[in-house]
Amino acid sequence: MKAFLTGAGGQVGLELIQALVADGWSVVASDVAPRPAGVPSSVPWASLDVTNAAQVDEALGTSKPDVVFHLAAILSATGEKNPARCWDINMNGTVHVLESARKHCAGQVMFASTIAAFGPGLGNPVGNDVSMRPTTMYGVTKVAGELLGEYYWNKLKLDFRGVRFPGLINAGKPGGGSSDYSLHMYVTGLEKGAYTAFCRPDTTIPLMYMPDAIRALIELAKADRAKLTRCIYNIQGFSPTAEQIAASAARGIRIETGKDVKFGYEPDFRQAILDSWPKELDDSAARRDWGWAPRYGLDAMTRDLVPKIRAMLADGRL
Ligand SMILES: NC(=O)c1ccc[n+]([C@@H]2O[C@H](COP(=O)([O-])OP(=O)(O)OC[C@H]3O[C@@H](n4cnc5c(N)ncnc54)[C@H](O)[C@@H]3O)[C@@H](O)[C@H]2O)c1
Repeated sequence: MKAFLTGAGGQVGLELIQALVADGWSVVASDVAPRPAGVPSSVPWASLDVTNAAQVDEALGTSKPDVVFHLAAILSATGEKNPARCWDINMNGTVHVLESARKHCAGQVMFASTIAAFGPGLGNPVGNDVSMRPTTMYGVTKVAGELLGEYYWNKLKLDFRGVRFPGLINAGKPGGGSSDYSLHMYVTGLEKGAYTAFCRPDTTIPLMYMPDAIRALIELAKADRAKLTRCIYNIQGFSPTAEQIAASAARGIRIETGKDVKFGYEPDFRQAILDSWPKELDDSAARRDWGWAPRYGLDAMTRDLVPKIRAMLADGRL
């Protein structure tokens, strides 16, 4: 199977490249940013700006992949600082990818949606098929992308599929999302011995450890279309309060380094974004249709994550 990735240089893309290569896929990676270190030499890197329709058309026309993993996006917090740019990249980029995929590929487009596509007041847990009234431009572009993709599936038979990711945590740099406080608790906690989160201690959103998120993308891409009852699936990881993440991170860092970490809380503009998101997702449709099940809870993630971040800080990768 041949995969083409947009936004391949981001948190998700770099991990997905490694997992696809390990799974035997032929991979072409693209991003507006230059090729980062660590991408396997077997993976070609194309310079591609998804806002440029001609560039997208040329790239997909040349590589003719079986599956396009469309990851290029501006995330929630960065998107609120420049909503017009967020619309341009997230929405027009998706239009260009869907249209070029329809023209050039027999295959499938995988879409990375998000809990930010939901709005406030939806109860708990939030079901797969509910009213979507997001309050951020990021959320607006993701709902519109979901609907547009469903149109391409229903009317044009382009095999569009995607997951609504919780906030993702991995051993890497925080990417500008409003869930970044959780990763900072590990990275800044290890680096500086203290971190002041930009949210309240009781803030609760669904989170997921990156290995589970990557597995979800690959498992859904490989799922039998005949068993899928929809294009877009909620997937749930775990839903701790910010204070519970801090406690788990503090325990993990103490075990790893013998040092204590101090955490504080000073909510900023991102608190309102976090408060508008679900606390937990109902992922029963994904479990039923393609066998989704997360493998990591909070403490299992902490055990895996802390030594990795410590090693990355030590050798300058973070
Ligand atoms: N990280 C999360 O917590 C999270 C949660 C839910 C959904 N998602 C979705 O997953 C996808 C990947 O997210 P991520 O965490 O890797 O984000 P990221 O910010 O780490 O990476 C996004 C990548 O897109 C690239 N990009 C930006 N503008 C571009 C353009 N015009 N053309 C081509 N590439 C461009 C960036 O250079 C970057 O490498 C996104 O669609 C995001 O909305 C992420």
